[in-house]
Amino acid sequence: MAAPMNAGSGAFSYANNSSYQRTGFNSAKNLIKDVLIQSIDVKTLMSSTISNTFTITDLGCSTGPNTFLAVENIIDAIEQKYRSQGENPASLEFQVFFNDQVSNDFNTLFASLPVDRHYYAAGVPGSFRGRLYPNSSICLAYCASSIHWLSKIPEELVDKNSPAWNYGKIHYTDARDEVVAAYEAQFEADMDGFLNARGKEIVRGGVIVIISPGVPDGALANHVGITFRFVESILIGMVKEGLIKQDGVDSFNIPHVYPSVKQMSKIVEKNGCFSIKKMEMRNTRTELEASIDHDGAIMHLRAAMEGTFLKHFGRKTAEELFKRTIQQKSTLYDMMDKSRSEIGAQIFAVLTRK
Ligand SMILES: C[S@@+](CC[C@H](N)C(=O)[O-])C[C@H]1O[C@@H](n2cnc3c(N)ncnc32)[C@H](O)[C@@H]1O
Repeated sequence: MAAPMNAGSGAFSYANNSSYQRTGFNSAKNLIKDVLIQSIDVKTLMSSTISNTFTITDLGCSTGPNTFLAVENIIDAIEQKYRSQGENPASLEFQVFFNDQVSNDFNTLFASLPVDRHYYAAGVPGSFRGRLYPNSSICLAYCASSIHWLSKIPEELVDKNSPAWNYGKIHYTDARDEVVAAYEAQFEADMDGFLNARGKEIVRGGVIVIISPGVPDGALANHVGITFRFVESILIGMVKEGLIKQDGVDSFNIPHVYPSVKQMSKIVEKNGCFSIKKMEMRNTRTELEASIDHDGAIMHLRAAMEGTFLKHFGRKTAEELFKRTIQQKSTLYDMMDKSRSEIGAQIFAVLTRK
């Protein structure tokens, strides 16, 4: 189970350090709208409901504010499509289910719900790897910057007798083939669970929109992977200084996989519940901003990953680690500058329920 994003609205909170993920959404905003207008027959979907209610879920919504922007954009698209079908969008009602893990800070999310919203809001706790909603009750599912979190670390990664034992490393981006294969197998199993659950919950003709950090076909690392290499080097330094044990690093693995289009489309096709309306690799940075936000990388790392490090290493080590990320930030900046092309890679997918 993934650790939650940093709660509340303080200096290290996700609410204040999620502009990376927001850039991901902003760069795809118009595309999402266009694809939804093309792919969803709102009139037909609504003719099969009694109440004219269009149901939306944001899977892995965290604490905001990104989720609210995404929901507004989706509602705009649906209303626009309904209008273009000769119907009055004012007759539509929207029910939005904000989903995240039970440990998510739903209080911060609810406290910041837009006051002028035109939808009914509800929080739904639980893992999106399994069922969350009744059969055929959801018209549209949105999942941004969340699908790359694995439900668990494959056991072989911490098994000293396995060829996939990931000693001395904290992720698969620079690791042996067996490690990469173990991560990929877990991602495939998790995605299959996700698609099977959505296959039951989403009405025929309904859609899933997925935005996720990804990699071009054949590549392994992206911007987040670069940051992990940096963190790994700090942890190894702390082992050398005797501050933590080698075992602690050997048994720690970041539960993230960044899929490629090839990998993702294979999983969706094998699963069979959805057809691929659109699936492409995009680069959010080149589209929206040429420069790399170096300082942002460190703050975002902490906001999104502090819980994961705390859980494994404890507070004292996690605090020291994040202190060192600031002290040694020029190393990260160099790494990022040398890997410019890997920064901002994002997979964008729209799937339609068959
Ligand atoms: C980086 S945040 C993205 C938040 C938001 N979608 C955005 O774009 O800013 C990832 C979120 O996914 C959630 N998450 C990860 N695995 C999950 C799962 N299996 N079920 C539900 N939520 C999950 C995490 O708790 C976290 O809040």
